[in-house]
Amino acid sequence: MKRIDPKPTMARWDEDRFQRVRREVLAAWPTGAEVDLDEAAAYHRVMAPEKNTASVLRKARSEGRTLVQPRAGVADIEPQIALLERLRAAGADLLPTTVDSYTRECRYGDAERGLAQSREAGRSLLNGLPAVNHGVRGCRRIVDAVDAPLFARTASPDCRLTLEIMYAGGYSSCTAGPVVFSLGYAKNYPLERAIDAWQYSYRMMGAYHERGVTVSIEHYLPISTMVPQSTSMACVILDSLIAAAQGVCDITLGIGQQCHLVQDAAALRAFPTLGRHYLEKFGFTGVELSTVMSQWMGGFPSDEGQAFGVICMAAMAGYLGDVTYMISKSPHEATGVPTPEANAHGVSASKMVLRMLADQQFAPAAEIAAEQSIIEAEVRAIVDRALELGEGDAALGAIRAIEAGVIDVPFSPHRSNANRALPARDWRGAVRLAEFGSVPIPEAIREFHRAELARRTAGRAPRAAWELLLADVNAISEGVLLPG
Ligand code: 5AD
Repeated sequence: MKRIDPKPTMARWDEDRFQRVRREVLAAWPTGAEVDLDEAAAYHRVMAPEKNTASVLRKARSEGRTLVQPRAGVADIEPQIALLERLRAAGADLLPTTVDSYTRECRYGDAERGLAQSREAGRSLLNGLPAVNHGVRGCRRIVDAVDAPLFARTASPDCRLTLEIMYAGGYSSCTAGPVVFSLGYAKNYPLERAIDAWQYSYRMMGAYHERGVTVSIEHYLPISTMVPQSTSMACVILDSLIAAAQGVCDITLGIGQQCHLVQDAAALRAFPTLGRHYLEKFGFTGVELSTVMSQWMGGFPSDEGQAFGVICMAAMAGYLGDVTYMISKSPHEATGVPTPEANAHGVSASKMVLRMLADQQFAPAAEIAAEQSIIEAEVRAIVDRALELGEGDAALGAIRAIEAGVIDVPFSPHRSNANRALPARDWRGAVRLAEFGSVPIPEAIREFHRAELARRTAGRAPRAAWELLLADVNAISEGVLLPG
């Protein structure tokens, strides 16, 4: 008889289900045996508040300061500590540990070989830290060596064991999300399975909270080139509802910089209100919210001066958007993983701009408020429709909204993505939709998109929408925002 799967739901996992899955998760690699939730919570409780993400973010929000975090990860512990010390000296307020690709795919045997070969070669042959292989003890050597909060930076549908080990190792935040990581990076991983895996990790974080420790998460769609901010924000809100349902109490809502100052700032300013609106709608009232912006995740210029231009403009947008923290890029972005020096310069350039702006008490422009109300209306239309399709459930709603093309992420590799929405920059470089597909943008706002796009193409030889889009995608790496 064909088994009929129950409908996916955002409902909180019961303790039996969590413990049953937990035994399997921890058994997947020998270091899983090092994890003891009660002991780990005790380790977190005696840690200095300056090393807890939630507490550092709360302080930054109350002081109106913008923090900076780079990305960084190498194969072994001592080089990772040295790298983080260099980045801290450049001004990094939050410290990353990017996890290598094998670990992201749960290929711990391959990660072990990569670690051994890196030791033999005397340099990192992995693109991040194989945290599962280093285990809880290895992670704690890093945590004990630094004086700022540590983030686990992964990006895949199943990070269950990695996060068990890193949180037990003293990390207090991670990048997260079944919707954002499936649509952003995965092709064949069924969304339902990703939701199930992330619900496990969120429940694990809830278990820390129940033991008196606040751990945090960061949600952002990791592809953002030409993805309308409202679409990526809708994904983040659905992931945040799924997380809060499992007991996560500290969430950072993220966007990617699109290099349009007003639109980037407006998206950031709209985010806390929108996030709060939906969390409260579901009765999740005790959740603290921050915002983050990843500096430009599209193609970078190879000229280092031009790359610094993009980085400094990101700092400006973040400041105008009152962002809590920013993920910095480096002048080596066009060529690959940066050297520690180049990475440090991405941090110090961003911090320089932020310090100079902080002294100016700059008032946000009226144009930002206008764009903010457009973004708010778009996000509400998308999320409301998703929740309607999900019969009031955010997990089911996310799956059905993607299937229906209500959430339609341009350039997503995921097989469920509709690929009908077609974006373009308008006459001033803001990202609009040239074709809406099934994205439920309200009619009055569609008119606005059409009018702003028409001003760009007026008086020029007609070009196919895809030609325009291709030119827009490549523009910034070629040194301009709007191609000629
Ligand atoms: N070290 C530094 N930066 C990294 N990135 C990815 N892995 C690392 C690493 N190990 C950065 C690159 C990439 C982005 C997604 O993250 O800038 O474009």
